[in-house]
This record gives sequence, structure tokens and C-alpha cells, in this order.
Amino acid sequence: MTKPERIYLSPPHMSGLEWQFIQKAFESGWVAPLGPQVDAFEREFADYVGVKHALALSSGTAAIHLALIHLDVGRGDEVFVSTLTFAASANPVVYQGAKPVFIDSEPHSWNMDPDLLAEALKHKARQGKLPKAVIVVHLYGQAANLDTILDICNRYGVPLIEDAAEALGATYRDCSPGTLGWAGIFSFNGNKIITTSGGGMLVSDDAELIAHARKLATQAREPAPHYEHREIGYNYRLSNILAAIGRGQLRVLDERVRRKREIFEHYHRALGDLPGLEFMPEAPWGRANRWLTVITIDPHQFGATREDVRLALEAENIEARPIWKPMHLQPVYRDAEVWGGAVAEGLFQCGLCLPSGSSLTSEEQQRVIQIIRRCCNG
Ligand SMILES: Cc1ncc(COP(=O)(O)O)c(C=O)c1O
Repeated sequence: MTKPERIYLSPPHMSGLEWQFIQKAFESGWVAPLGPQVDAFEREFADYVGVKHALALSSGTAAIHLALIHLDVGRGDEVFVSTLTFAASANPVVYQGAKPVFIDSEPHSWNMDPDLLAEALKHKARQGKLPKAVIVVHLYGQAANLDTILDICNRYGVPLIEDAAEALGATYRDCSPGTLGWAGIFSFNGNKIITTSGGGMLVSDDAELIAHARKLATQAREPAPHYEHREIGYNYRLSNILAAIGRGQLRVLDERVRRKREIFEHYHRALGDLPGLEFMPEAPWGRANRWLTVITIDPHQFGATREDVRLALEAENIEARPIWKPMHLQPVYRDAEVWGGAVAEGLFQCGLCLPSGSSLTSEEQQRVIQIIRRCCNG
């Protein structure tokens, strides 16, 4: 028997609108890591999220890295980072020779716990060694408790970098996550709500940061007719062709959010009655983009573990993934300092991300639902 077609977690979903911009890029001859599509993408993106400046880059990771370089993060420094995240939130800290200090999540948003952040900053202030920055992650498309976190950071004068890689199209009050702190970053990786196949954006109202990051991203070339360099640079710019894809994708972002939320609602209606199965809560301060629908499974009530469910889906050629393994549990970060940790550990043990691509059909979603229902109590 042939296997049913694989259902992926969040595959790229082109709208068709991308072509017109790609064609313009070809016609203009700008097949380069700069050009009119890049400029337009930056302007349109800045307008969409509501920020003064945006810098298109080759990845979200590059955006975090450049923000840290601008803050002069280096050997001996510390940077606070949410522990429940993808490794890309923390790795650029290590690129700079600094140390990440991980902060646990709060149970009702799954994002950085402001009380733990306050406690950790107070402790570091007493030691006279404040971190150079705090990197807060807006997990699975839900904004963290930003006002409170910002208040705490401001109290200690520590800049806040918002990792909004997963949260484009979400809201925090009426704002976009990624725009309230000192700097924000977004990702257009293939699995994100909109994609350029690979890419990222650094946003900020700080013109100096964006100008410096722009220079660093183009090998730190000084303004001179010959190649002059006073600092170490990187090759981090986004190509004009990929920016063209991004412009087309940006035009369907609101529709993508609507569809992702609809997929979530459907899972919720179809599975919400099962004992021991819960959904990632939506915090009262905003609207999540529901990039991925994430559930938790209590094996005692449900009658099967998260892993049983994942394997049952995999046997039917359906991709589901455990939620991010917290950074403080990663072998590569085994020596890192962590504040709390139990909330993220618990979520990792019982959390599962379900197929949530905006191109998911109702038949495909029905297959996922049936298999999960079948796992419940045998
Ligand atoms: C929370 C988070 N931060 C950072 C990144 C890095 O983005 P990129 O893959 O564009 O480097 C990702 C995704 O890949 C992510 O999910």
C-alpha cells in the first residue's frame, strides 16, 4: 500500500504574488545582496510592524548577532535569554564569547517569567555585574509580558532585544511584538509564517543601531572608493531576489495569521474534550499568530504519552514535534547559569507541536485529529 502524502509541521506556502516582484528584480538586473526590492521590503516591513527602521538580513540569527555586536557584547559579558526557545536565540551570545544566562517561563504564557527576570537582575546588580542585554523570545507566535519585562529592564538600564522570529503578525496590545524593546528580530526561514526561503529582519527606532548593523552586514566596508575596513564585518545581507519573495509574502501575512488561527480553533473544537489534553494558552495582552498549534498531554489522564502520540502520527506519515528542548537542558549549554527551569522542563516533557501549515487542508487536519483521538485512553 502506498503511504499517504506526508503532512509537515509548517511548510512554506507561496501565494503567487511573489512572481511579480521576482520578475521586477530580474528585469532591473539587481541579482545581488542589495537593490530596490531589498529597500522596498525594508520600508514595507517597517510600516507593517510600526517601527522607524528595518534592516533585511540573511537570517534572524544574523539579526540577533548584529544587535549584540552593536552593544559591544564580548568576552566576560553575560546576556539573559529565555530558556524555552530554539538554539538560535542564544547561540549569537556565544559567537561573541559571552555567556547566556537562561530564564525560565511563566506557566500562563510559556514566555519569560518577569518575576524570575527581576530576581536575577536584582542579584546581578548587587554583584555589580548586570547583563549587557536581555533577549526575550515570543514563543510560538505569542508575545511575552512585554510591559512588565520592559519596566524591569528599564529599572536596571539593560537593553531589551525581542526575538520575534516566530511572532510576525501577532499583537501585544495594539503593537507588533518586536517593536517595544530596543531592538527586535524576525525570521523568514522556510517554516515561518511568511518565508523568503531564508532571511531575517532587524528592526529598531535606533537609527544608529540600524546604520551600524547595515555596515557590519556588508563586510563593514567604510565609505571609500577602495575597500577600507576598520572593524570585522559579516556577509549577512538579504539578496534582492529573496526580498522580492518577501514583498509578495508580506501581502498575504494577515491572511496567513487568520488561517493559522482558524487551524488552531479547529483543533481546539475537535480535541478540546479529551481528558489531559490542553492547548497553549493565549495571554490576555495580545493576539497570538498561532504559528504552530501546540498541545500538552498529561499521560495519566490521556492514557498515552506525548511520545506515543507523536509516534502514532509519524506512523501515518505526519510530522509532529516535541516543543523546544529548553536551552539549559542542552548538552552544549550544560554549564550555563539558569534561573528556575521547572516550567520549561515540564512543557518540554508533555508538549507537542501539531501540523499547522497555512496550506493544511481540512482533510489533512481531520487525519491528524482522528489519530490523536484514537490515542486517547487506548
Ligand atoms: C525563536 C527563534 N529565534 C531565532 C530563530 C532564527 O531565525 P533564522 O532561522 O532566520 O536564523 C528562529 C528560527 O529559526 C526561532 O524560532
